Amino acid sequence: MIPNCLPQGEVYHASEELGKEAHVPSFQKYKELYLKSVDNPEEFWGDIAKEFYWKSKHRGQFLDYNFDVTKGKIYIKCMEGATTNICYNVLDRNVKERKHGDKIAFLWEGNEPGDEMKITYRELLLQVCKFANVLRSQGVKKGDCVSIYMPMIVELVVAMLACARIGAVHSIVFAGFSAESLCERITDSNCALLITADGFYRGDKLINLKLIADEALLKCKEKNLPVKKCIVIKHLCKEEVSWDRSSCSSQSPPTKRVCHSVQQEKLGEKVKKVCPKPQVPWNPDVDLCWHKLMQDASEECDPEWCDSEDPLFVLYTSGSTGKPKGVLHTVGGYLLYTAATFKYVFDYQPDDVYWCTADIGWITGHSYITYGPLANGATSVLFEGLPTYPDVSRLWEIVDKYKVTKFYTAPTAIRLLMKFGSEPVQKYRRKSLKILGTVGEPINPEAWLWYYNIVGEKRCPIVDTFWQTETGGHVMTPLPAATPMKPGSATFPFFGVVPAILNESGEELEGEAEGYLVFKQPWPGVMRTVYGNHQRFETTYFKKFPGYYVTGDGCKRDKDGYYWITGRIDDMLNVSGHLLSTAEVESALVEHSAVAEAAVVSHPHDVKGECLYCFVTLKDGQEYTEALEAGLRKQVREKIGPIATPDYIQNAPGLPKTRSGKIMRRVLRKIARNDKDLGDISTLADPTVIEQLFNSRCVL
Ligand code: WTA
Repeated sequence: MIPNCLPQGEVYHASEELGKEAHVPSFQKYKELYLKSVDNPEEFWGDIAKEFYWKSKHRGQFLDYNFDVTKGKIYIKCMEGATTNICYNVLDRNVKERKHGDKIAFLWEGNEPGDEMKITYRELLLQVCKFANVLRSQGVKKGDCVSIYMPMIVELVVAMLACARIGAVHSIVFAGFSAESLCERITDSNCALLITADGFYRGDKLINLKLIADEALLKCKEKNLPVKKCIVIKHLCKEEVSWDRSSCSSQSPPTKRVCHSVQQEKLGEKVKKVCPKPQVPWNPDVDLCWHKLMQDASEECDPEWCDSEDPLFVLYTSGSTGKPKGVLHTVGGYLLYTAATFKYVFDYQPDDVYWCTADIGWITGHSYITYGPLANGATSVLFEGLPTYPDVSRLWEIVDKYKVTKFYTAPTAIRLLMKFGSEPVQKYRRKSLKILGTVGEPINPEAWLWYYNIVGEKRCPIVDTFWQTETGGHVMTPLPAATPMKPGSATFPFFGVVPAILNESGEELEGEAEGYLVFKQPWPGVMRTVYGNHQRFETTYFKKFPGYYVTGDGCKRDKDGYYWITGRIDDMLNVSGHLLSTAEVESALVEHSAVAEAAVVSHPHDVKGECLYCFVTLKDGQEYTEALEAGLRKQVREKIGPIATPDYIQNAPGLPKTRSGKIMRRVLRKIARNDKDLGDISTLADPTVIEQLFNSRCVL
């Protein structure tokens, strides 16, 4: 499956220099390791497991599974019976066994330039122990689920690792989600405790996080699933608390923080920028102050020893029915997989300064800001802000400031910055950069080349990492010093991963081919179930093609054996690297009192990759006005969050349907693109709606 000879011509190679110190220095070496990983997973993963601490050994098979629904229940178990603690492995082990206590774990860079702090492994461990004790004192026990709704601050990492330390299951909800989305996730995972912050800034915009969290808690109460306690960190209103991060440890490095009254240089004169504080309503029956709780908490906290197969976290991802799925990952396999992918894919070296720009609210942040880097003892940048604030050079300024060596971002960010040309990039030197990475969606070759030529100055290989919330870590990716790169291709499988391309009838296609991307066997980091709904797990991923995990992505293999992900083939769309289901947006639209029916399709967008094009049919007697359209946009933002804001909404007095009443989204996609080549429309019940819709398309 992995080719014997590599392609000539349009491929890009890493420098020989990089190969000298790399963990996998050549394609030959990659092939050897790959074969070992699939022929003898026990030995391959067993070697990686030896780097970590296990309180007791596993029993039975290293990787035990059934991937075939026709043979019974789907299950995946890695090192079942072994006991460990992931927090112990990423913190205590680094501090106590590897003597990395004084190494910086995170270089935190706030939204405002100049707002910064550092935290070492020792300090992080101390904070986590204290907060784990806080959670225990609030009655949180092993197996309980805790919701976390926080900005990109160090305390978010503290909260998640504290859960892991006591065996509680964290469920992080991206801080850009609406109150409705937060409530839905809290109730689905039955969380009795929420951790949030007063607010934060995204660029110039104040997000009143506590206010949104309160609205969510009210909704939970209405559903009779009250959250008992809400722990609130004062991030913006920190001067209200007599608490200082640097007082936590005698070893603390200097901490510099400027608050939200920032000096800005403008036309040579100093202009004082005053940013408003968030509104922080306080309900004494529910709300608890993070800082007060921490002051009284003990610094000693024994980890809870967990089975390798105990749950670690739930993370919600869009589902094609519209209801998000709680993807569940377990302790042992996820630890091994995030640690190994981080080490090999970013070719981690001890003096690296690594930076992943994702938000911890998404899987990329879970695996490649928290668990993978910390498991390796890495130093990472943790960035609260935006690539465009205060200007479009911000990322490169930070790269120079911290001498970042490995940089991981999303194609949508690259496309956005590309629009401003090379000058904002070239204002900074970027000499420290060695490896670049992308994740979230297919990267178009033009953006790949800009990233390669301009940002990396032809010196840095790009790892185009294909993976999913469900896969836990990278599954298709180049290894930087080993794999010759083709712009836009995620190249070959990671260790332990066996891909195949199937046609509609489920037959495996060989050689050059295009079809469904599936995986034939599990790897340690694959999800174990949909929280509270194992049947949905089986139906979504294993039913269409028995014996395979179905990714939902299309894929082609070229003549050289390279894999190219072509995008989603289900009712999902990928907006700026974030998955949304069309059903989710449709249901938000039809909840509006004026709307009778809605159909949503994806439409190409040059920065976001894809965007939302919505068709709405109004109820009788309703008139389509600008105000109504604005109301519909607001409705979607409030139900789901700003990432789901529709770009286009078209008034559709009728929708193309089959005789059985199914909306033909395939036809709507063509209408949105003004593509008259509709293919076979013989099943269409009323062909006259087509012309009507073409005539009233949104002006793009
Ligand atoms: C898409 C993000 C092409 C894909 C880690 C997948 C990609 C979905 C790539 C998962 C890539 C992610 N090339 N497509 N390198 N990376 N995708 O769950 O459609 O938020 O199924 O996980 O993003 O999105 P998720």
